[in-house]
Amino acid sequence: MSNKMWGGRFGDKPDPIMEDINASIDFDRHLYRQDIAASKAHAAMLAKKGIITAQDAKRIAHGLDTILSEIEAGKFSFQRALEDIHMNVESRLAALIGPAAGRLHTARSRNDQVATDFRLWLRDAIGALDGRLAAYQRALAETALKHAATVMPGFTHLQPAQPVTFGHHLLAYVEMAARDRGRFADARGRLNESPLGAGALAGTSFPLDRAMTARALGFARPMANSLDAVSDRDFVLETLSACAITAVHLSRFAEEIVIWSSPLTGLVRLSDKFTTGSSMMPQKRNPDAAELVRAKTGRVFGALTALMMVMKGLPLAYQKDMQEDKEGAIDAVGALTLSLTAMTGMVRDLEPDVARMRQAAAEGFATATDLADWLVQALKLPFREAHHVTGRIVAKAAAAGVPLEKLPLETMQAVEPRITAAVYGVLSADKSVASRKVFGGTAPRNVSAAAKRWLKRLKTKA
Ligand code: ARG
Repeated sequence: MSNKMWGGRFGDKPDPIMEDINASIDFDRHLYRQDIAASKAHAAMLAKKGIITAQDAKRIAHGLDTILSEIEAGKFSFQRALEDIHMNVESRLAALIGPAAGRLHTARSRNDQVATDFRLWLRDAIGALDGRLAAYQRALAETALKHAATVMPGFTHLQPAQPVTFGHHLLAYVEMAARDRGRFADARGRLNESPLGAGALAGTSFPLDRAMTARALGFARPMANSLDAVSDRDFVLETLSACAITAVHLSRFAEEIVIWSSPLTGLVRLSDKFTTGSSMMPQKRNPDAAELVRAKTGRVFGALTALMMVMKGLPLAYQKDMQEDKEGAIDAVGALTLSLTAMTGMVRDLEPDVARMRQAAAEGFATATDLADWLVQALKLPFREAHHVTGRIVAKAAAAGVPLEKLPLETMQAVEPRITAAVYGVLSADKSVASRKVFGGTAPRNVSAAAKRWLKRLKTKA
């Protein structure tokens, strides 16, 4: 038997390999809820416009509701021979309600149908990701508030640079996550238009009310060009781009957790909840969750790159190539959701070693910039000269094997005779962070104010 959905001009069955390459039901079954909602909206509109009878529309809606509960109860049998979610649902509808089912596809193509379904699916996914990002921000801001004054080394080139506070470091990721949320919100705004009614590519001769279906599905408006509506996947690319940037942010933080929890730095400790042991080496506590967050970035990028390649050479309008948009995007959204949840858990779990952080902040002459700034402010040296003088003092401290704050005054005065004992007021890590009161700086007062501001914002907007 040829396909009952489109088999009119076909005599033969497809080759089995054709089914293997053509079927998308294994992944587009994720779209069942959106597919059913869009079909219900379409049927209601067809009835309202007198294109099908109210009777038939009612039967269709009822049948679709039954299918929804069958799928949710795990009682629906998805068939690969029926290719995709659209034909699986329609075929079951025919079995349930008979000939009225055949009227549902009036003035509709799978091309506008799938574009509609996937916009709806991504819109829901963006909503869920936004919720996870907010929870992640909240965990970061709460921990930041607790550690607004916990000094740690700040790095550039992974070399000790200047002391910062742990809270300040965590709030950097809150800011990044806020921009990630902004990118998702932008993507959502642009994707929220309805392709339904574009038909296969050219629109339809039936007097559809496209605004009605758009409204029913929560879209801002119907898409203005039928060819565009069925043939672009920029909404997937844009969402995946936002996913990719978010994944990069998570991956950088995951990498820091790996570094901080290594005994080589010993800056934080993860509990047993987020570490694993080794099957051979009994002493090991491995930060596997952080490593996997770092690795999952690859999948997200893979999905974006793959779809960019799929789309770049396609003429208008729909091409079957575009079916490849879903598998990667669904996987990427799943990977990012998991990563966000794991990172939120790790943020709540990690215990900074406050004493070790303070000690590390004092290593590596991290307050050398404070000394140079003091020379500029107290002695009015030009900064370049102050930099040079400080460099010579650091060399002496290194030779003596002491931190700057322990270097005798005479040793400093041997380099610059006008230095007074007041210099010791800027040389400790705590003094250093406290002095960075400029807007956006790491001073503990700034950090706790910023953390509180974030917590308030997250409470009102969550
Ligand atoms: N499963 C298809 C997809 O995801 C649905 C659209 C099929 N359209 C077609 N003309 N064959 O793209």
